[in-house]
Amino acid sequence: MTNTTTISAQDYMNKEAKYGAHNYHPLPVVLDRGEGVHVWDTDGKKYYDFLSAYSAVNQGHCHPKIINAMVEQAKKLTLTSRAFYNSSLGDYEEFVAKYFGYDKVLPMNTGAEADETALKLARKWGYTKKGIPENQAKIIVCDGNFHGRTITIVSMSTDPESYAGFGPFTPGFTVIPYNDTQALEKELQDPNVAAFLVEPIQGEAGVYVPEHGYLKKASELCKKHNVLFIADEVQTGIARTGKLLAVDHEDVRPDILILGKAISGGAMPISAVLADDDIMLCIKPGEHGSTFGGNPLACKVAQAALEVVRDEKLAENAEEMGEIFRNELKAIDSDMIELVRGKGLLNAVVIKPKNGKTAWDVCMALRDNGLLAKPTHSHIIRFAPPLVINKEQILEAAEIIKKTMTEFQ
Ligand SMILES: Cc1ncc(COP(=O)(O)O)c(C=O)c1O
Repeated sequence: MTNTTTISAQDYMNKEAKYGAHNYHPLPVVLDRGEGVHVWDTDGKKYYDFLSAYSAVNQGHCHPKIINAMVEQAKKLTLTSRAFYNSSLGDYEEFVAKYFGYDKVLPMNTGAEADETALKLARKWGYTKKGIPENQAKIIVCDGNFHGRTITIVSMSTDPESYAGFGPFTPGFTVIPYNDTQALEKELQDPNVAAFLVEPIQGEAGVYVPEHGYLKKASELCKKHNVLFIADEVQTGIARTGKLLAVDHEDVRPDILILGKAISGGAMPISAVLADDDIMLCIKPGEHGSTFGGNPLACKVAQAALEVVRDEKLAENAEEMGEIFRNELKAIDSDMIELVRGKGLLNAVVIKPKNGKTAWDVCMALRDNGLLAKPTHSHIIRFAPPLVINKEQILEAAEIIKKTMTEFQ
């Protein structure tokens, strides 16, 4: 008998509570193993994973191709820093730049770092190319945004949970309503605006899908006013919404593209910022970097993860399965379901509390019935399974959700 069999789920949770910072409020389930669309807890109970680590595990848990690439490279060379060249980086940079159609990539690790990189890049471009006077650059962001957790990023946030108690804040941001091109056009009159930063769908805010045409119009307005259009596709990118990028639904090509999460298939933190030379080359040697960014292990993992997305046609599958899933959810007869929305396999239901039962209670009941999801903003449940899910599985998962909602009637 191994030691792990004698430790209860409660012991694991108690240990995290005792020795870990209390910056999360996890659903009480202790996961031990994952494969494809499923995860197993420490008692061996199997679940559908309908969070996919906030859309990082698009390729499914422990995808063999990604794990093989990781293990092979881990035995050879993991980190050199960028003080030296390494034999994986150039190949990866060529691969990823061509994959997304940009001149260059700047590799980082987390989504927040990639967002910070894009902000620095935009400001530098604003000063060196657009001629904005020193320290005057402004970046327009949207109400309800989520771009990560650093001080500068929470300085752009309109959610008190993200920013309250963390001031003083970084200046230089103007907040406008999401899905409002008139508000954007008004702010673009200011010649000191360097960039507009937007999520094509606001994921953390609760899967808010803007009107079709919003991204196209916003990008055209930016072009007209010589302002960079920056798409944060950390959550929406890499096939999640049924296209490789969510901006592809409107044939928009951002000036700066930010990627994270699923670029590694969930194997390790990898992020990337893509842009063409006139923007990317504004940052010179020594002006930006990261010890781990572009490490050989990450290069091999990201390349394998992106090959899986292409070879297994995950965008097409997300589109098809998402359509089936939303139709199934909309057919559920429950007065607790106020709204179903989403694109591809990034979906959410808005829950109307009933008899004191909230979205959290629904997620607890879903857990008991074998499906894991987590509320965002107390009344919204996001459903975002790995994109390798097949029709039989998506129907079974929808049936679990239906059964669970019926239990609340
Ligand atoms: C749109 C978006 N940008 C950035 C981030 C931050 O990514 P990370 O948690 O890897 O820093 C997230 C995380 O949820 C996100 O959804």
